[in-house]
Amino acid sequence: MTSNSSKFNSLPLLLLLLCLFAATISATRTGGIAIYWGQNGNEGTLAATCATKKFPYVNLAFLNVFGNGSNPELNLAGHCDPASGGCVSLSTDIRSCQKQGVKLMLSIGGGIGIYSLSSKLDARNVSLYLWNAFLGGKSSSVFRPLGDASLDGIDFDIESGSSQFYDDLVRYLKSYCTKSQRVYITGAPQCPFPDRLMGTALNTGLFDYVWVQFYNNPPCQYTSGNTTNLINSWNLWSRTLRVKKLFLGLPAATQAAGSGFIPAEVLTSQILPVIQKSPKYGGVMLWSKYWDDQSGYSSSIVSGV
Ligand SMILES: *[C@@H]1O[C@H](CO)[C@@H](O)[C@H](O)[C@H]1NC(C)=O
Ligand SMILES: *[C@@H]1O[C@H](CO)[C@@H](O)[C@H](O)[C@H]1NC(C)=O
Ligand SMILES: *[C@@H]1O[C@H](CO)[C@@H](O)[C@H](O)[C@H]1NC(C)=O
Repeated sequence: MTSNSSKFNSLPLLLLLLCLFAATISATRTGGIAIYWGQNGNEGTLAATCATKKFPYVNLAFLNVFGNGSNPELNLAGHCDPASGGCVSLSTDIRSCQKQGVKLMLSIGGGIGIYSLSSKLDARNVSLYLWNAFLGGKSSSVFRPLGDASLDGIDFDIESGSSQFYDDLVRYLKSYCTKSQRVYITGAPQCPFPDRLMGTALNTGLFDYVWVQFYNNPPCQYTSGNTTNLINSWNLWSRTLRVKKLFLGLPAATQAAGSGFIPAEVLTSQILPVIQKSPKYGGVMLWSKYWDDQSGYSSSIVSGV
């Protein structure tokens, strides 16, 4: 190969590498808190959530109907009604968050919803919908429920249906990465490894941030004063998963989950110092802004994260 041809051939490869590694390059050394917003109208606005300066990552929850030929549906509980255009003004909040450096992801799936992918073609159709309705695509024929601001990426919280074709969906979404806009891919698998529904997608190695749910899963969570199962599970994830940053996903209050809540003092003294030794450590994920408002959990842990 002459040096000329290799120079030209390597341009697309260079762009791909930039897309894959930009997050690593800009990554900071310390951890941050990711939080879910959207499933309770009494948790303050998106702009107010970002203005706390406690959350470098906010997941908007949830797009809970998609795929298999369905008309996608966004659900933001009491915040606003996406279907009637009631959420387009969120673009102002989105821009204000992004100005402060907060990364915003649309979370797809969730505990209550109807979603599945029926084929690779269906995955492509859904990827184009997500790109045009929420990310940088902006096709004039697709309604944008959150207005014209572009979110930073898509968060996968697949808790029901089938595991099929989510790896294709991830690959299609990543391929829309351009020089002016990256597409972040994040996910919230359950801690039993590998995740039954998201394992194949996670194996693509294309996820930027993964916040594992170390709750509602007794075999791999903190249980009655004992950190062994939690730390063993964290070590397995951190050893095995190809991902830029790994987060410890936790309930923000005892009532926020069926089980797995960790008192702030236990987290900061017995758990964070251990998992922070992992090179992939990215911080803590909390479910959810509403429960965090009730408990003040993030304020109690933020200096230790
Ligand atoms: C493609 O996705 C749209 C939503 O964007 C949906 O309304 C349509 O039915 C899908 N088409 C097919 C063939 O699945
Ligand atoms: C798609 O929907 C049809 C019925 O509308 C159902 O029979 C089928 O199981 C669904 N496929 C998936 C992958 O969910
Ligand atoms: C903690 O849990 C592990 C695993 O279940 C068990 O082997 C260990 O004895 C427990 N430690 C204490 C102090 O109870």
